[in-house]
Amino acid sequence: MLVLAVESSCDETAAAIIEDGTTIRSSVVSSHVELHAPFGGVVPEIASRAHLERIQPVIDEALVDAGVLLDAVDVFAATRGPGLVGALIVGVAAAKSLALVYDKPFVGVNHHEGHLFAARLQAPNLAPPFMTLIVSGGHTMIVATDDWGAYRVLGRTVDDAAGEAFDKVARHLGLGYPGGPIIDELAMTGDPKRVQLPRPMLNDGSYDFSFSGLKTAVIRYVAENPEVAMCDVAAGFQAAAVEVLTTKLLRAAHHESMDTVVIGGGVAANSGLRLQVELESEQRGLHCVVPARALCTDNAAMIGAAAAAQYARNGQDSLGLSVAPGLRLG
Ligand code: KG4
Ligand code: ZN
Repeated sequence: MLVLAVESSCDETAAAIIEDGTTIRSSVVSSHVELHAPFGGVVPEIASRAHLERIQPVIDEALVDAGVLLDAVDVFAATRGPGLVGALIVGVAAAKSLALVYDKPFVGVNHHEGHLFAARLQAPNLAPPFMTLIVSGGHTMIVATDDWGAYRVLGRTVDDAAGEAFDKVARHLGLGYPGGPIIDELAMTGDPKRVQLPRPMLNDGSYDFSFSGLKTAVIRYVAENPEVAMCDVAAGFQAAAVEVLTTKLLRAAHHESMDTVVIGGGVAANSGLRLQVELESEQRGLHCVVPARALCTDNAAMIGAAAAAQYARNGQDSLGLSVAPGLRLG
């Protein structure tokens, strides 16, 4: 079964062809980062226009890379939320139009579920139950995955998302945009112990997170210690964020008696987080699935994998299905 999936929830226009739910025949991602960089963040209007310009060429490239003709596609899928409304509309309209013209099913996918399915592309034999950490630019969640399609959100951020904190810290320190990859690289040459920062909500008994205070603590530290090396600030900040994320993920797995943990979302591309989750899982005898970096940041392959499973469970969606910018999981 061939799924053509489209992802356009934020600032990447992406298309992919997924075969039988777990094989990536092609995956094309066109990032708009260079368009938003001068503004230090995503400008929704610019994102919508860029999606409009890029959606057709990106879909064409995915088809050519996979060696697949449009009439061989069995299901057309797109992210329907959460995300920027104008951006989502472009991808959903494209997938619906193809479904209509080729008289094939359309499936609208939850972007969070896509991030979760990146792990299935990485490890096709992965089977629920497992505990998931979804960390992106807009969301931070601990999700108990009882089955494919059956999710319990145990905790989430009460203020900034983890990726948002990376981006805001980088912006305040004048390091550039997007902040996540920049801080990740800087942190590699820094000492994570030189700049001691708080671990917000680490031992509050919940699975919730707070990153706004950590961001403020970093900014204050630099204001009070202007001579500090930026690599040490980056390493200290990343160590604090990674410790809270990893600890709560593993704690949740323990409390729910789950022996597998999974990470997903753009911040799951972070070297420090990947290493820490792998190390601590191993120490506790847990199995962990850390998807390849390209599967963590926004892409359409993960949407195609989620769409294939959703279609098998629930069948097709109506062409009347609208975008859902505030869509939640579970
Ligand atoms: O999942 P994603 O691509 O888009 C959303 O759904 O939000 O996540 C984007 C976020 C951005 O905040 C970006 O700075 C962060 O993921 N990110 C990283 C890294 N790569 C991307 N954060 C930390 N370390 C990285 N290597
Ligand atoms: Zn995302």
